[in-house]
Amino acid sequence: MNKSNIHHILLIVLGISLWSCKAKNDFPGLEYAPNMYHSVPYEGLSQITDEDKGMWLSNREDGLGEYFNSNPNNPYFMNMREPVANTVKRSENGYLPYRIPKDSADYAGRVLVNPLDSTAEILAEGKVLFTTYCSTCHGENGQGDGLVGKVFMGVPAYNVGRVKELPEGQIFHTITFGRGRMVSHASQVSVEERWKIARYVHVLQNQN
Ligand code: HEC
Repeated sequence: MNKSNIHHILLIVLGISLWSCKAKNDFPGLEYAPNMYHSVPYEGLSQITDEDKGMWLSNREDGLGEYFNSNPNNPYFMNMREPVANTVKRSENGYLPYRIPKDSADYAGRVLVNPLDSTAEILAEGKVLFTTYCSTCHGENGQGDGLVGKVFMGVPAYNVGRVKELPEGQIFHTITFGRGRMVSHASQVSVEERWKIARYVHVLQNQN
C-alpha cells in the first residue's frame, strides 16, 4: 500500500468520524465546549439536567450534582418555577382581574362593593378624575350638560330617576364597559381610579 492510498483512507475515516458528529433528529450533535452553546447564568427556558448532555459542575456528597444550566436550589433542578396551581395574577395595587361580563351591569351593582374609604382625599381625587374624563359629556355637576354632552344629546343627569339609584358597583361597571352610546373608559382610568370616580359620582347622584 503506497503513501497516497493511506492518505485517502485516513481522509475517508476522518470524514466519516466528523459526519457522525452531525445533529440528527433528537440528537443535537456532539458539543465541543458546551459552555459556548449554553448560557452560564440560569435561563428560564433552557434547563439541562441530563448527565450525558450537560456539564457536571460539582460532585456533592449526597450524590446530587449541579448540571450545566440547572438550578440546584429548586426541586428537580428547575430554573423557572411555576406559579402555585389556581393562583391568579393581581394588578400592582392588588386588584383581581375584572371578570363580570359586559351584559351583567345589574349584577355588578348588586355584588361589587367600593373597596375605597370615603375620605375627603378620595373624593377630591375622584372629582379631579371625573372632571378630566367625564365632565365633557356629563357636565361639572353631572347634569348631562357638558359641552360634548350637549351635542351628544341624551346624556342623563345623575340625580334623576333610575340613574340616581345606581349603586357604585354598577357605575364602576359602566365606566369599564360603557353603555349605549357611552364608550368604555377602561383604557383611560385604572381600576382604582374607576372606584374613586364612582365614589364621586355617588355624591353627584345625591345632590338636589
Ligand atoms: C362621550 C360622552 C361621555 C363620556 C366622556 C362619559 N359618558 Fe357616561 N354616558 C354618556 C351617555 C351618552 C350615556 C347614556 C348611555 C345610554 O344609556 O345609552 C352615559 C351614561 C352614563 C351613566 C348611566 C349608566 C346607566 O346605567 O344608565 C353613568 C353612571 C355614566 N355615564 C358615568 C360616566 C363616567 C363615570 C364617565 C367618566 C369616566 C363617563 N360616564 C364618561 C356619555 C358619556
